[in-house]
Amino acid sequence: MNFPVTRMRRLRRTEALRSLVRETRLHPGALIYPLFICPGEGVRREISSMPGVFNVSVDEALKEAEACAALGLGGLLLFGLPAEKDEQGTGAWAEDGIVQTALRALKANRRLDSLVTIADVCLCEYTSHGHCGVVARDGEHYSIENDSSVALIAKAAASLAVAGADIVAPSDMMDGRVEAIRAALDAAGKQDTPVMSYASKFASAFYGPFREAADSTPQFGDRRSYQMDGANVREAMREIDQDVAEGADMLLMKPAMPYLDVIRAARERYDLPLGAYQVSGEYSMLQAAFARGWLERERAMMESLLGIRRAGADFIVTYFAQDAGRVLG
Ligand code: PBG
Repeated sequence: MNFPVTRMRRLRRTEALRSLVRETRLHPGALIYPLFICPGEGVRREISSMPGVFNVSVDEALKEAEACAALGLGGLLLFGLPAEKDEQGTGAWAEDGIVQTALRALKANRRLDSLVTIADVCLCEYTSHGHCGVVARDGEHYSIENDSSVALIAKAAASLAVAGADIVAPSDMMDGRVEAIRAALDAAGKQDTPVMSYASKFASAFYGPFREAADSTPQFGDRRSYQMDGANVREAMREIDQDVAEGADMLLMKPAMPYLDVIRAARERYDLPLGAYQVSGEYSMLQAAFARGWLERERAMMESLLGIRRAGADFIVTYFAQDAGRVLG
């Protein structure tokens, strides 16, 4: 209508103009790098479905952490691959557990003070059956018990906070776990440890490569009785309502790219700090396209992260954190 008075292209003419009017920016401090800690020493084992991502022993994790700190990243999200698993997942709250040990080592290194250490809290990496909670069997049928799982998850959260986690992040999707974790943290003298709830976590095919990375594929059944149905946005808002009411300090949404509308809806409705997790399958599919030369590596990576920011995420958990940090540096 207003053409030629209004010419949108005027502000796109040079990079300087484009930069001046840019609405959304990425910053290394808003990127969180996931680490998969395994037993041993000098271990750095690439995950076959996630090129560029490794299972690392504690000593190697310290090196990764130093690289993240040097890039100015915001923090680390820690997962553990215990030496042994059992039916209950006792490794999740063991004082000498794999993530507890890593946390103590990370916290002993003052050069890493700029990194926020976030401990993922779940049982699936520690249980022999690979489910996120306690399995009750009845003949051929099984179910994942909610309340008994919550008690164990709260114990794991307290143990991780005592070992030095700056934030605990429950990813199990049991009902009532935020309240139970808050109580367990307070009872352990960790009133100041925030809970970042994976408030809306969908049952997603995009977690596939993670299950190789964390060796946590369910041995039977699937996670659909506790993770959310991918069709539901309103239910996601109710999940978040619950977690906020139970005392969550921060929210994490996942996956990210297939659920940008859910991130946007959460951003508009809640004032809590809001993060999004660009999960393993999102990373792997982009890597696969880069390897074939089908997508331009740097541009597609940055565009994927920008889209998640634009949808409303304050911070992003991503396996690209170090690569993106280098681009932004
Ligand atoms: C543990 C957990 C999972 C992820 C984060 N925490 C796996 C799952 O629910 O199966 C997935 C992360 C990713 O795919 O990168 N409950």
